Amino acid sequence: MRIRFDGKTVAVSGAGHGFGRCIAETFAQRGARVFGCDLSAAELVETATAGVEAEVVDLSDRVAAAAWIARIEQTTGGAVDVLVNNAGGVAGQEMHPIEEVEDADWDRIFAVNIGAAFALSRASRKSGSQQTPCWREQDSNHRSRLRKVVDAKFQRRSDPGRSNTDFGRRC
Ligand SMILES: NC(=O)c1ccc[n+]([C@@H]2O[C@H](COP(=O)([O-])OP(=O)(O)OC[C@H]3O[C@@H](n4cnc5c(N)ncnc54)[C@H](O)[C@@H]3O)[C@@H](O)[C@H]2O)c1
Repeated sequence: MRIRFDGKTVAVSGAGHGFGRCIAETFAQRGARVFGCDLSAAELVETATAGVEAEVVDLSDRVAAAAWIARIEQTTGGAVDVLVNNAGGVAGQEMHPIEEVEDADWDRIFAVNIGAAFALSRASRKSGSQQTPCWREQDSNHRSRLRKVVDAKFQRRSDPGRSNTDFGRRC
């Protein structure tokens, strides 16, 4: 299956690594203009080699997250067609016993997993509602298309025993 995204603007959060990089690269290969952000400048260097317009943004800052969407819209002169809220994880708390997790660490996990998804979605939706009246329909189409692209890329259906981590490493 070859689904194309020519002429579409795609924003991928957490594009420096793992699933996010892979998703960003795949959209770029399929014709989209892709913007990716992450905390890590070093990791974004590799993402950028795939044609992704990469930028360091700390998405735990909701103002910075919304400003990134605004910069994309300014650069492209239009709304974001596909937003992939990928950034997340446990902010360095892997395998930490709960009694050792500080409030600030807990808040940071929510800031990136929940707060950033909210801030990016709200910022995209604000301009999307003005510039693309069919935003909701487009959004639902793109979600199912994205799933197909990811499945096709990793041949997940033909290799169901492989773990998610293995899929991320393939990129
Ligand atoms: N890997 C899995 O098995 C798995 C399972 C379920 C859900 N997920 C979710 O899928 C997403 C991607 O998973 P992954 O394994 O590729 O994770 P990952 O940790 O490899 O990548 C997440 C990316 O988000 C970036 N990020 C983290 N905090 C950020 C911040 N404040 N601002 C900007 N960027 C930030 C990281 O730098 C990293 O590049 C995550 O949201 C994760 O929680 C992953």
